[in-house]
Amino acid sequence: MSGLDDVIAAETRLSEVDGANGRLVICGHSLDSLAARKSYEAVLALLLPDLLSANEEAVRAELGQARLRVFREVAWLDADLISLSVTEGLRALMARLPDGEDKSVALLQIAAPAVFLPALIRVRQGQKPVPPHPGLSHAADMLAMLNGRQPTAAQAQALDTYLVTVSDHGLNASTFTARVVASTRAGYASAVLAALGALKGPLHGGAPGPVLDMLDAIGMPDKAGPWIAAQLARGERLMGFGHRIYRVRDPRADALKAALTRLGAAGGMNTNRLALAEAVEAAALSALRAAKPSRPLETNVEFFTALLLEALGFPREAFTGVFAAGRVGGWVAHAHEQIETGRLIRPQSRYVGPKAA
Ligand code: SDX
Repeated sequence: MSGLDDVIAAETRLSEVDGANGRLVICGHSLDSLAARKSYEAVLALLLPDLLSANEEAVRAELGQARLRVFREVAWLDADLISLSVTEGLRALMARLPDGEDKSVALLQIAAPAVFLPALIRVRQGQKPVPPHPGLSHAADMLAMLNGRQPTAAQAQALDTYLVTVSDHGLNASTFTARVVASTRAGYASAVLAALGALKGPLHGGAPGPVLDMLDAIGMPDKAGPWIAAQLARGERLMGFGHRIYRVRDPRADALKAALTRLGAAGGMNTNRLALAEAVEAAALSALRAAKPSRPLETNVEFFTALLLEALGFPREAFTGVFAAGRVGGWVAHAHEQIETGRLIRPQSRYVGPKAA
């Protein structure tokens, strides 16, 4: 019962997570056929053909216009907002957007993290926000708004691969949250804001930043074993490992490691950092197998996410927001599916408290 393990809480046509075999299918397409092959706009067209469009170019055009509309809210970025964490600042800005169940609300929510996150990062660094270029792809525009210059094709491709890879993943905690809120007919903005709150937690989408903290703390490959042993001895968890569903390696880990190596040193990848990460991963997997022999704890999506987003210029405190920039497509798709096919989500509970007098 704890954590709703193995409970089927919805039927969906959006994605299937095969935990035993380490496979992810999105709208009938395997992750391998999507990552580095299809754009984020193409995956949005797969996820939301009736609400947005089944045509990738139509989605690209409308998403570009939505980024322009979202950017108008950046004017509200003030000292109070940047004193919050990046994820809380993102949530506060997204709360300014209109709610409802129509296409325009959905488009703004999908566009918002890619616009607000770079603005928050730049203002926190004392720089001016960069307005969107609606003619760029969603990934390329997000990087252009972050770095103030157009990305290389390899950098845009790397972020696009990340957004596609994390776009949808069954009934994870944040997506389930989106469905619950959508089931009350509260609207897409309410569903996305609630989901962003769930994603913020370190057990869910808050893990990629701490992966870098772990690599920084270890520093050298030969220090990985002792550091990890001490961490586990303290009952601490290793960020980037373990998963509620995957009992084998998360297929997204290899998709993102491949994106990182394609990016290469020219695109910002630090080869020493990758070598350290590979040593840490090997030491962690060995220690986890020894510590928890009955529980498979494999590399999950967050481990190589951390290196990829760092190579693309995102500060680690923004990694959860970048995760949201990809997953928001899945949140809206599940919210839409819930509205179209579901009913109010209201499970039962068993009362174990004191009996009434
Ligand atoms: C995501 O659900 C999704 O699809 C999520 C996600 C998505 O795309 O939406 O894939 C994204 O959230 C990936 C996970 C990111 N989080 C982390 O990397 C944080 C570290 N990982 C964990 O805390 C943990 O593995 C969870 C939360 C991801 C899953 O944990 P479960 O399924 O709830 O398992 P559990 O907490 O009951 O742990 C079972 C045992 C425990 O030991 P015992 O108490 O039984 O002795 O395994 C241990 C845990 O202590 N354990 C770990 C561990 N993960 C579990 N021990 C050390 N390091 C870890 N990472």
